[in-house]
Amino acid sequence: MGVVKKGKHSSGQSPLACIDLFAGAGGFSLAAHRAGLTVKLAIERDKHACTTYRYNFRRRKTVLEEGDITEMSPRALARRHFDQDNICDLLLGGPPCQGFSIHRINDAGVEDPRNHLIHTYFDFVRAFRPSQPNSMSRAA
Ligand SMILES: C[S@@+](CC[C@H](N)C(=O)[O-])C[C@H]1O[C@@H](n2cnc3c(N)ncnc32)[C@H](O)[C@@H]1O
Repeated sequence: MGVVKKGKHSSGQSPLACIDLFAGAGGFSLAAHRAGLTVKLAIERDKHACTTYRYNFRRRKTVLEEGDITEMSPRALARRHFDQDNICDLLLGGPPCQGFSIHRINDAGVEDPRNHLIHTYFDFVRAFRPSQPNSMSRAA
């Protein structure tokens, strides 16, 4: 059995590629980098979090899209950052969970509009098809 290097494709030495949705200041991205992955795209709306993200990853090539994820086209972003030969291996994302966290008190947050962002998250899963060969042809 061949040795699979941390964060690398088993077929070669190229790093695994991922994206980070709702990236915040970059906690998930940091873990991905430390695991040897390339973070090709991050999305975050809060300008202060974006400033911190840019500072934290100033030596990386990650493209940070600053803005409301619900106003972005997942398919257009998938086509811009990946193709048949460079697929998305992993999709990271931490959508706001205050409305459905087990830590909420007396059902607070059930009507929180941010709860719908989980659907946006899955729109991105459908468009990026992480680790699905020929993912771009299916996203077209
Ligand atoms: C739970 S935090 C994510 C933390 C991040 N995963 C980390 O490791 O630091 C959720 C993030 O989603 C961002 N967010 C909320 N609504 C958003 C939207 N509509 N578009 C983009 N980002 C949004 C928030 O600003 C916040 O930084």
